[in-house]
Formats: sequence, C-alpha cells, structure tokens
Amino acid sequence: MTLQDPGLLRMEALIGGSWIARPDLAVYNPATAEVIGSVPDCTGAETDAAITAAQDAMSTWKQVDHATRADLLMGWHDLMLAHKGDLGRILSAEQGKPLAEAEGEIAYGASFVRWFAEESRRINGKIIPVPGKKLMALREPVGVAAIITPWNFPNAMITRKVAPALAAGCTVVIKPSELTPFSAIALGVLAERAGIPAGVINIVTGLPTEIGKALTQSPTVRKLSFTGSTRVGAMLAGQCAPTLKRLSLELGGNAPFVVFDDADLDAAVDGAMLSKFRNGGQTCVCANRILVQAGVYERFIDKLTARVDALSVGPGDAGHSDIGPMINAAARAKINAHVDDAIAKGARQVSRKRDLAAQYADPVVLRDASLDMRLASEETFGPVAPIFRFETEAQALDIANGTPFGLAAYFYTTDMARAFRFAEALEFGLVGLNTGAVSNAEAPFGGVKFSGLGREGAQEGIDEYLSTKAFHIGGI
Ligand code: SIN
Repeated sequence: MTLQDPGLLRMEALIGGSWIARPDLAVYNPATAEVIGSVPDCTGAETDAAITAAQDAMSTWKQVDHATRADLLMGWHDLMLAHKGDLGRILSAEQGKPLAEAEGEIAYGASFVRWFAEESRRINGKIIPVPGKKLMALREPVGVAAIITPWNFPNAMITRKVAPALAAGCTVVIKPSELTPFSAIALGVLAERAGIPAGVINIVTGLPTEIGKALTQSPTVRKLSFTGSTRVGAMLAGQCAPTLKRLSLELGGNAPFVVFDDADLDAAVDGAMLSKFRNGGQTCVCANRILVQAGVYERFIDKLTARVDALSVGPGDAGHSDIGPMINAAARAKINAHVDDAIAKGARQVSRKRDLAAQYADPVVLRDASLDMRLASEETFGPVAPIFRFETEAQALDIANGTPFGLAAYFYTTDMARAFRFAEALEFGLVGLNTGAVSNAEAPFGGVKFSGLGREGAQEGIDEYLSTKAFHIGGI
C-alpha cells in the first residue's frame, strides 16, 4: 500500500505511550486475501497494563480544563481530515469498502470528534433550589472506559465513542476488531501527534476473548461501550455485571424499510439504495426487510432492480467499485444461506446474476419475500434486498415491529398524518421518514429492545461518560 505518510500504517499496540511491536496476528486484505501486516495479540496482563496506564493518565486528564481538551480534540480532528486520503486507503485495504466510501467514513468519524470537542465546553451541572442549604449537581467523568469496536466502521465507531469519553474527562482502552486494527492504530498515531497525553488513549490489539475478559472483569474500568452483535453484547454485559459497569451497547438490527403507495417512488428507491447497499449492506442500520405496498410493488421492484443491476462490484481500490468484498467467508456463507433459503421458500431473484469471485457477494433483489424466510427474522448483513408486499398500514406496522430488534426503521409517505402516526408507532431508536440516512454526529444514535442500551452522538453521547454528584452545602 502506498501512503503519503507511511508512519500512519503502524503495526503496534499502544500502552501508556509506549508502542508494543509483536507480529502475532496477521491482518488480511479481504479483496485479495493478501497479508497487509500483523499486530500483537495482547495478553490479559498487557490489557491490565493498559488499564493501569489509563487510570494513571486520568488523574491529570480529568483536571485539564475543558477549553484545552476541546483544542486537543480539534487538533486530532484536523489531522484526521488532513490525512483523509491515507486513512481511507488503510481502511479500505483492511475492511474492503470502496476508497470513496472509506474516505467518507474518515470524514464521518472526524465529525464526531468535532462535535464532542464542541460539546466538551457545555458539560454543565445544575444548582437545585432546596430550603436551608445549597445543592449542586456536578458532572464528573465516569472513569476509565473500555471501548470495543467492530470491523464494519473501523474509524467512525472508535471516534464516536472515544471523542465523548475524552471530552468528558475519561481515558480509554480501545480494543479494535482483530480484522481491522490498522485504522485504530492510525488514530492512535494522530492522537499522539495532536498532543493528547500518553495513557489517555491506549490500544490493545488482538483476539477478543482474553482482552475482553480483562476489560470486563477489571474493577478499574467503570464503563464499557461496545458495538457488535446482540449475542456478544449480552455476553459482555454479563461479564460486566459483577463490577457494575456503566454500559453502552449498540447491537444488531433488522431494519424495516416501508414504502407506501403515496410515496415519491424515485426518492424511495434512492433511499433504499443508500440504506441497503451502504458498506455493501454491512451496517447495523441497513434496510433488512423492504416492505412495499401493493399499489407500487411492481414499479418499485422494476426501479430498484435497474439501479442494483447498475452497481459495480470489485476491489475497494478499483475506482469504479460501488461494493467491495465482504469481510470474510463466514459473512459470505450467511448471505448465501439467506438467499438460498429465500429462493427455496418461493422468493425470486429479479436482479441480474453475476459471476463474481468468491470474496464478493452478488447484490440481489428478491421479490415475493415472506415472513417464514430467514432473512425476515435475521440480519443478513450483506447486499440482499428482499421485497415483501403489504396491503394496509396496520399490516406494515405489524411486520415492521415484529422483531425483537429495534435499531433503525425507514418509511416513505407523503401523507403527513400517517407520517407522525407511523413514526410514533414504530418501536425503534432511529426512524427515517423519506430518507435512507439516519447517521450523523448531531443525532442520538442507538436502539431499543435487543438492539441495545444508550445513545451515541448528539448531546446524549457525552452523558454516557459522565456521572452526577450531588453536592450539598449546609450552613450558608
Ligand atoms: C453500525 O453499523 O454499527 C453503525 C452505522 C452508522 O453509524 O451509520
């Protein structure tokens, strides 16, 4: 990989300001299966050392005034944007997404750092009137935070957690996905260059079991923020229970995307393309079930299929690719199993069939999807667009809410009364009306039900890293 600044592709863990090099674990390019490099597989003892370093750094970091913290975060933000090209190349190489989309993720990731740099100036407490004394509610950093992040957004899922943590005065130990550690490490390099003090950001690379145990069992770690599957999130929550940590869990979804007869159909197709095929379908907020009302069912399918047929699938660094490789063989096997199951149960592929190399997944439109298919109840996490037909609004609502998950939901209508009625009835943390995008730094992002706990981004995002101390003053 050719970088303008080769120093950004570092292959080391970062503990208390020291870089640890040990080539234990290879990292592959999912498009070529070539080894990009390798990173240490950090041990439990190294993770404990990172926790101690974070704890030591916190005693000074939490005293740094808010304006200085904001300046340091803005410096980090500016470096991210200045190195967007290189960060995008690293991200695309290890994760697979097309270069333009990878650079888009760098800008998206940096936007959280900017937002929380700004928010750090507004961590206000309260003065509460009570008879006979003064009562204040003070806002304090919760403590050392463990940050466990996924492979699908190797940059933005880190900044969305780390920026509010640092803004609040917490220090962090990051455990990036073992599939995509280099984007995390590059963020560590830039944090160091921005002057963020040693020990404030620690990065432990490696396999999850031992590192996860050390992070969740440590009484020093007061907060865990995790993005990943509901199964792993529930397991981590269980591991955190004995030490009663604060939790933010951004977990799986099964997003409905509902198109009513009165929708602007071209806008609905644009939204479906964005929501379904972003990152090749590998996001928690991707449309998983596309529900289309009977009156526009055929027209919607024709329009969507034309757009899907025009998608280009290929390596992330080939300028023309819209969809890169899937992350690994297990992901591809699940996608293929969902398509095969749907076809065996009566769905029909209406998009063109492509002859793709094994690392890619065919972007597929499936008509006549039904609720007994696996893709109706499980998150496919790939470029598969199953189209379900519905007749009435009540039926659409039943199907949309008929899932234990509650992350994102989308719907398209031009009827404003229905817009409010339906939005309020949807049991999801994020609702998009006439838009296929629900992710930005200003928006509270998170789910209900099996999709998790807490909110990221927005004003709420910083609350996750703060606790409230009631300060009672008598005798005045
Ligand atoms: C995710 O897939 O977990 C996050 C998607 C987003 O930030 O939009």
